[in-house]
Amino acid sequence: MEAMNIGINEQDRARIAQGLSQLLADTYTLYLQTHNFHWNVTGPMFHALHAMFEQQYTEMAVAVDDIAERIRALGARAPGSYLEFSKLSKIKEQPDVSDATAMLQVLVQSHETLVRTCREVLPLAQEAADESSAGLLADRMALHEKTAWMLRAMLGS
Ligand SMILES: [Fe+2]
Repeated sequence: MEAMNIGINEQDRARIAQGLSQLLADTYTLYLQTHNFHWNVTGPMFHALHAMFEQQYTEMAVAVDDIAERIRALGARAPGSYLEFSKLSKIKEQPDVSDATAMLQVLVQSHETLVRTCREVLPLAQEAADESSAGLLADRMALHEKTAWMLRAMLGS
């Protein structure tokens, strides 16, 4: 069979896939962090936060699939283990958070970290005219910017 040719050279495909792997690792880690908070949140805001966290991790569960499949479409292997994700992810893991306000603060930091990852990787896709990856990155950036704003609003900031 002939070599893959979607009009993006091999080096650019590898570079974009590496960036998307970073995005995948960050998103999967934040998915788990949000699920953890859904389970362990306590206090008078329990019901609202429990439900909001569920909405957020459910959205990310769909997103990780789209990101991983884009990496595959670029001809690269998608990382899919906790070992790889922990090496790649820039999200700081915070295992002992139980206070609801602290959870919101941690999530603001995590969503803003993800926004920065999207912004770092986006030019790699744009420079290679990889509109498919650029569109995905732009959508993820907007989602995490909006979520960070909403979480900050809940904190009164
Ligand atoms: Fe649940």
